[in-house]
Amino acid sequence: MISEIKSNINREMLPQHIAIIMDGNGRWAKQQGRERVYGHQGGVESVRSVIEGAGEIGIKFLTLYAFSTENWNRPKEEVDALMSLLVRSIHHELDNLMKNQVRLLTIGDMNALPDECRKELLDAIRITAHNTGVSVVLALSYSGRWEIVEMARKIAQQVKNNRLNPEEIQEETVIQNLNTDQIPDPDILIRTGGELRISNFLLWQLAYAEFFFPTKMWPDFRKEDLWQTIVDFQSRERRFGKTGEQVCSH
Ligand code: FPP
Repeated sequence: MISEIKSNINREMLPQHIAIIMDGNGRWAKQQGRERVYGHQGGVESVRSVIEGAGEIGIKFLTLYAFSTENWNRPKEEVDALMSLLVRSIHHELDNLMKNQVRLLTIGDMNALPDECRKELLDAIRITAHNTGVSVVLALSYSGRWEIVEMARKIAQQVKNNRLNPEEIQEETVIQNLNTDQIPDPDILIRTGGELRISNFLLWQLAYAEFFFPTKMWPDFRKEDLWQTIVDFQSRERRFGKTGEQVCSH
């Protein structure tokens, strides 16, 4: 069954970049009468499975929304637990990341993270920098609006320093000043947990992404679910503003 889903994927039409909003950890834990943190721990197993599954079929970029700017407003115990889970997971998984040739990257406000967390991340980014498999982008203390404000600041500074004329500002200028300047736009957005929102995630970059909203909670999501989403994606027609006839005539 598992190998059947995998063999249904057309390797010639792979998405380059899949972005995931990992939602439903808290509800999954509550369903089992446990604390929310138990759900986040369960979610780490899904992160491992999905990274493996992306690597196995040759996906180039996988972005995971691990902690939003708004998540700082959660109860302190939950924020602390998430930060320490992150540090422990990265530390514990480093050998595995190397073995699977995973390259780790981050987007978001690294300066807002606790020192220990930032240090662990920077070490893992440095150690995995030359790996050639899937690039896993952790969105941490990230939000799309935060990133757009940062981009506006950087461009304004360049104008102020006479390095850029306002008339020269193009889409490319914006792209180069986002956190994702080296990363292609996502082809697919997955949000688990059944909510139909993008919650301030990759607002610029998702312009042409195909959206998928599985009802499974994140801790139940596995690589087979990722592969099935890719199969479904491959049966959709992406038009990028053109007509169906124009797309088919290529
Ligand atoms: C959303 O579920 C999930 C998060 C805010 C955190 C996701 C983090 C992990 C899965 C751990 C990350 C670990 C690594 C190594 C990247 P929720 O709490 O909003 O769930 P709910 O909607 O059911 O309340």
